Amino acid sequence: MASITVEVESTRNGNRQLAQWVEEIARMCRPDQVHWCDGSPQEYQSMLRFMILAGVAIPLNPAKRPDSILVRSNPGDVARVEDRTFICSQRKDDAGPTNNWEDPASMKGLLRKLYEGSMAGRTMYVVPYSMGPIGSPMAKIGVEISDSPYVVANMHVMARVGSKVLDALGDDGEFVRGLHSIGAPLAPGEPDSTWPCNREHKYICHFPETREIWSYGSGYGGNALLGKKCHALRIASVQARDEGWMAEHMLILKLISPTGQVKYITGAFPSACGKTNLAMLIPTIPGWKVETIGDDIAWMKFGADGRLYAINPEAGFFAVAPGTSMKSNANAMRSVTRNSIFTNCAMTAAGDVWWEGMTEEKPDELVDWLRRPWTPQSGRKAAHPNARFTTPAKQCPAIAPEWEDPKGVPIDAILFGGRRAGIVPLITESFDWQHGTFLGATASSETTAAIVGKVGQLRRDPMAMLPFCGYHMGDYFRHWLKMGEGVSPAKLPKIFYVNWFRQDTDGRYLWPGYGENSRVLKWIFERCDGKVHAHDSPIGRLPQPGDLDTQGLDLPADKLAKLLSVDIKGWLEEVPRIREHFAQFGDRLPRELQDNVAALEQRLQSARR
Ligand code: GTP
Ligand code: SPV
Ligand code: MN
Repeated sequence: MASITVEVESTRNGNRQLAQWVEEIARMCRPDQVHWCDGSPQEYQSMLRFMILAGVAIPLNPAKRPDSILVRSNPGDVARVEDRTFICSQRKDDAGPTNNWEDPASMKGLLRKLYEGSMAGRTMYVVPYSMGPIGSPMAKIGVEISDSPYVVANMHVMARVGSKVLDALGDDGEFVRGLHSIGAPLAPGEPDSTWPCNREHKYICHFPETREIWSYGSGYGGNALLGKKCHALRIASVQARDEGWMAEHMLILKLISPTGQVKYITGAFPSACGKTNLAMLIPTIPGWKVETIGDDIAWMKFGADGRLYAINPEAGFFAVAPGTSMKSNANAMRSVTRNSIFTNCAMTAAGDVWWEGMTEEKPDELVDWLRRPWTPQSGRKAAHPNARFTTPAKQCPAIAPEWEDPKGVPIDAILFGGRRAGIVPLITESFDWQHGTFLGATASSETTAAIVGKVGQLRRDPMAMLPFCGYHMGDYFRHWLKMGEGVSPAKLPKIFYVNWFRQDTDGRYLWPGYGENSRVLKWIFERCDGKVHAHDSPIGRLPQPGDLDTQGLDLPADKLAKLLSVDIKGWLEEVPRIREHFAQFGDRLPRELQDNVAALEQRLQSARR
């Protein structure tokens, strides 16, 4: 232990709170050594080398994909574990009905036993990080302690890390404390596994009042990269409520018209429902352009001019690989040509990566994500459906020049959406902010492989924040309503609801999606300026087929009509389901939302008559 104490004290950082916390954690987890991350390129390289030497990572063929590695995880550790994710607020009521809750003291007691000696035989890394550009008034600092070099390397890409963050933190700055251990201590001489984790115990715990995160047992994605979902959404949503801003599971894009006019749009879709793809979209309509600001998280705050400004708190993309191709998302493919980390993808004979949907022709032979030989005849997927790539945002050819602007970008429109095979039209505009909040609060989607559990199950996912809201969802709705109060409607973003995933009776997507979504973005753009027609329906305002730019689109008229149709009977059946969804929030459900269900029902009933 003596050596650890010395190293902790020898750090040049003068933040006593930080030094004390690091020392306390080191005493509990008992690593062999403590490493303070400086964030340098050399440090990133040494993490990659370390993983390669340990057999955790394979360097990809430098002629194919320079400075990149492939990592295959343990099959028991492949996605976020929502049933192991907890909000440990003092009072159960503050976590609300949609979160798992445990008493903070008893959860810490339980976890301390697991953390006791959990880093034996390993190095404990201290990763100071900034969510948001360092120095931005909207940025927040956190420190993640982790015993995983994979986490350190990923944090290097996903956030701003290292000494420059400690400088910004100063002697008495505040930071979110994130403790992460894979929960796989090594006895002296014990060989390490290729993806150490704890198969028995996984806990992703948040202590919103004390701004702490304790994560144990998993090394994958949002379970382990604590700056992302744990900090920038679960803890930040609580801070945002307290401080009057918003932390949202949203992409941010810049839409440029043929005449060079710009609108900024955010979009909240659940995990694996199209945020990265929309953020990097290449429009199919001539003259229009999309640039990327962020692909997963937006922090938004009203500026002095009364407009809502958004920053992307992240510095990289941790995005779904399967389905990504030159056809569907060329900007993502061009981002990952180098300097990227691939997780749970398949490997080609030439030492490159492959995943389902990357190419039209499947390779003749591969090594699948479980390290087994694979051929197209194998009859199974070569890459895990939640295989991901980690790549720096600045490598994206479509990245907007202002993506790191410390004051953020002013938002013109907010989209909600999800995967709905039935009834939800391609696009609906809300009547106003309150109705838009209602659309977000009732958002629903079929579940995806981004979460451990069953795929394809319909669930309500309000504002795509169901797994990410760090407090009572009823209070969160109230916060949304409050944000819009007293702001001139002309300055508020317009709120829309989109659904790229409506299917025909044969289960085929009606809408081609991807680049063709630009047609919907164009309508949204022009609605913001009041330059295109919309008609009122019981569920909101919709374009008529003629209002959408469909030039060059190979889509039969009956399909387009179906995409823009409002199924009155189907929606009347939704009403009791919305009421049931709302009922769980009890008296914390804002009255305005209750009123919105009643109003919806009434509009539907008069339309039926
Ligand atoms: P997270 O990183 O988990 O938050 O996911 P995301 O919301 O960024 O989703 P992403 O853009 O990575 O897309 C997930 C999956 O949906 C991929 O397999 C895409 O190919 C597919 N997808 C994205 N956009 C569309 C679309 O417009 N239409 C259809 N049919 N599929 C889409
Ligand atoms: C999501 O599941 O929404 C993701 C991936 O963006 S993860 O970082 O694992 O949360
Ligand atoms: Mn996400």
